[in-house]
Amino acid sequence: MNAGGWKVRIPFPRNIPYFELLDLEGEQDDVTAAVMRGVRAQLMEQLPHHRPILAVCAEGNTSRFVAEGLRRLDFDAVNMAGGMKAWGNYYAWRPVVETERFSLYQMVRPARGCLSHVLVSEHHAAVFDPGRHIEHYHELAAAVGARIERVLDTHLHADHLSGGPALGQGDHIPYHLHPYDAIHPLDMLPARIAYRPLEAGQTFRVGAAEVKVLHFPGHTLGMVAFLIEDRYLLSGDSLFLESIARPDLGGKADAWAPLLYESLMRMAQLPAETVVLPAHFSDMAAADDKGVFQATLGDLKHRNPGLLKLAEGEKGFCNYILANLPVFPPAYVEIKRANAGLASPDEREAQELELGKNICAVKKQSSRRRVLPGVGN
Ligand SMILES: [Fe+2]
Repeated sequence: MNAGGWKVRIPFPRNIPYFELLDLEGEQDDVTAAVMRGVRAQLMEQLPHHRPILAVCAEGNTSRFVAEGLRRLDFDAVNMAGGMKAWGNYYAWRPVVETERFSLYQMVRPARGCLSHVLVSEHHAAVFDPGRHIEHYHELAAAVGARIERVLDTHLHADHLSGGPALGQGDHIPYHLHPYDAIHPLDMLPARIAYRPLEAGQTFRVGAAEVKVLHFPGHTLGMVAFLIEDRYLLSGDSLFLESIARPDLGGKADAWAPLLYESLMRMAQLPAETVVLPAHFSDMAAADDKGVFQATLGDLKHRNPGLLKLAEGEKGFCNYILANLPVFPPAYVEIKRANAGLASPDEREAQELELGKNICAVKKQSSRRRVLPGVGN
């Protein structure tokens, strides 16, 4: 099973639909008793007796009975409260750096493998790449005594619904996006959202902290990175810790792969001590001991497979990218429509759009490492 960005390995030799497992004898039947009958008949030997079992379902209701039935059979079982729905809305934040001048926080959303960032200085806050559950950013700002004054997306996201337009409030709290990404790349329709255009080389301040806008097209035409205090690079979906961006989500991989090559070549010229903070991760194990997904550019230049491919020149790099493109999830087209204001999914539709894998990054097909399949988001 793939729980959004997290892979959950289920060690069963076969999949048993729960309505078969439950063995209900009628509408009034006790569900817990039905679970026990089903497990006794079909799963007793296959379930682990010396390890905890987590029961998961869509909203945590059925799995509650499953966990209870398993406990009555002496398994060490617990239920995921709220199920996959609550898991999708689970966010946690950690400090990347806290100084007297400014602080930078990373917000992790494990269900989607999404990372967003909040820069705080002198009680001002800017939110970068927010997820759609915007209450978490209000809570973070309140916890550190700051007021959100800007919201920014590195690009028009395809893998998750952005919280940017909802977190922004017109001129009061502007929402920023590069204008090239304010056109849906497949529909070729202009966005119907209020946004303030970002420009390459533009700088702005959040309290005492300076932020520079760097344009790195390739994943999208309007892909930008934000360089904070000349040291912390919010790389969006250009460069991840274990992979690089996929250039095909606009349907023009052949044309955009050379742009990605040129962008990564420029990015690689930044100082080696630049701290790279991407917008996605593929494996929880990639976090450092503080739980933060970060690495220096110098480190990534030695180990990131996509950056290493730059040494093969544009042709070799593009061949590598084009040979390793993952499947194109159909939902990505609709998610971009929603993020551009061209569609308005309700809560149920939003949950469905965000189900499944986050396929953000290029990945070498022969790699055995546990990373997301493909080139990214
Ligand atoms: Fe993306």
